[in-house]
Amino acid sequence: MEFFDTHMHLDDNKFDLDREEVIEKIWSAGVTKCINMGCNVKSSQKAIAIAQKHDFIYAACGLHPEDIPQTEEELWKTIAKIKELVLQNKKVVAIGEIGLDYYWRQDNKELQKTAFEKQIELANQLNLPISIHTRDSIDDTIAILRKMPIKKSGVLHCCPFNPELVKQGLKAGLYIGFGGTTTFKNSKNAPKIVEMVPLEKILIETDAPYLAPEPVRGTRNDSSNLKYVVQKLAEFKNLEPEQMAKITYENAEKLFLGTEEKNIFL
Ligand code: NI
Repeated sequence: MEFFDTHMHLDDNKFDLDREEVIEKIWSAGVTKCINMGCNVKSSQKAIAIAQKHDFIYAACGLHPEDIPQTEEELWKTIAKIKELVLQNKKVVAIGEIGLDYYWRQDNKELQKTAFEKQIELANQLNLPISIHTRDSIDDTIAILRKMPIKKSGVLHCCPFNPELVKQGLKAGLYIGFGGTTTFKNSKNAPKIVEMVPLEKILIETDAPYLAPEPVRGTRNDSSNLKYVVQKLAEFKNLEPEQMAKITYENAEKLFLGTEEKNIFL
């Protein structure tokens, strides 16, 4: 079986001591494509450096809601820097991760929304898909999805098991990303949500080093654990794991590695 991990963080410092070993391990486990997300300028640069070193690894650049600067002025500078990184590097295939997170911070909601919207505009301008993070911010996320056109589509990453969000996401043309939480015993809504999502809109991801699936929950996650996510999704959709791996692989290739060039003339 081959797997496409559409969202992970190999640049995380939890991999500093053995990053190259982990990269070898995931490749041997059949992960033949994956995308390292960026959370700020520094991690986006690191994601690019990793992608440049390994053919099968791609990068995304973006400003995560937890990394929003203090002022609007700094925000503009950061987004400009991210744009520059994307334009300079062919292996950048998405803007991400971007979105809203009111779990950690609620005092900067307006700035978070501005950053999210501006990065959707950036993705539209560059003709790239987006990877969306949303935590404790479902209503505002839905409002933005309703308001903003998303040109090259994208994914609701580590999708919260909320039917309204999934419904609106699909309506906006987005893919739905399923990871470790799909396998958690306390994710009671998971089967119902997976059922709502048509096969051609399902993506798989790890969010490594976070959110390791059952039966390795609580350990440092890496892309080799995708097999557990695939197994669970196949179970919910009454398919063989091999079929689920293939479908999600092709979906990810279509979304992130489509043949259209990003717009380098902007
Ligand atoms: Ni992430």
